[in-house]
Amino acid sequence: MSLTIQSHGRVGAEVLGVDLSQPLNEAQFAEIRSAFAEHGVIFFRDQSISEQDHIAFARRWGQININRFFTPHAAYPEIAMVVKEKHHRDNIGGGWHTDHSYDAEPALGSILVARELPPTGGATAFASMYKAYDGLPQRLRDQLEGRNAVHSARHVFGSKAYPAESGQDTRGERIGNSAAADVLDDVVHPVILTHPLSGKKAIYVNPGFTLHIQGIDAERSKELLAEVYEHVTSEDFIEDFHWRDGSIAFWDNRATWHYAYNDYAGHRREMHRITIEGEALG
Ligand code: SIN
Repeated sequence: MSLTIQSHGRVGAEVLGVDLSQPLNEAQFAEIRSAFAEHGVIFFRDQSISEQDHIAFARRWGQININRFFTPHAAYPEIAMVVKEKHHRDNIGGGWHTDHSYDAEPALGSILVARELPPTGGATAFASMYKAYDGLPQRLRDQLEGRNAVHSARHVFGSKAYPAESGQDTRGERIGNSAAADVLDDVVHPVILTHPLSGKKAIYVNPGFTLHIQGIDAERSKELLAEVYEHVTSEDFIEDFHWRDGSIAFWDNRATWHYAYNDYAGHRREMHRITIEGEALG
């Protein structure tokens, strides 16, 4: 079966003509790998894959990261459950972020499989950090090049993020191990990275996990990050992915941000996520 890669334009590409329930041959894998490096996120439609197929596909890309904070699948700990029950108010990932920037060697990416979808809503937005970098005004680029930023997950997964007594924030039913998050060390990454697969430059700060830019005062860092975030979330670099049964998205954390819409109150959404280990960034 021959593959076709259909660019989405602003961010990502659809991979057509592949059945992920079957092992990929070397030529297919090489083509998908190059689309992944080029576009930052790739989408597959009309797939019917088991949990074992999901794990086998993920292993082609590297070692699986067993998530420390998400509830694991009951039978397959490699799979992190991204679930919003009918009674839940909050969703997981409902703000712009890139996964694992709080790790010294941030994860390469995540493969998200739709398992149960609400009747409407529940899309995921993606933003291209390649395109956002290319579109940076020179004035901003000059202020960011050569700088590093500090990242953490303490404020997201730590005990202060989900105070049990509040009874309001039901993400706590799905996120655990806050004691481990409380003692996480800060990590430092370049604000502009050179992507390890594509060699392209990309913005690598995000509203979810970046605390501040090093070497400038706190107020200036806040202003500069706000400017970058406003730039990234302009229409030019983002696109919504509308899930259907059989849809799969595989994003690169070093080249994209994502955001899960929370617009389906009273309905259940279940997604299975496998994250693949990455490497130190430069
Ligand atoms: C995530 O942020 O990993 C979840 C994205 C989604 O559920 O659409």
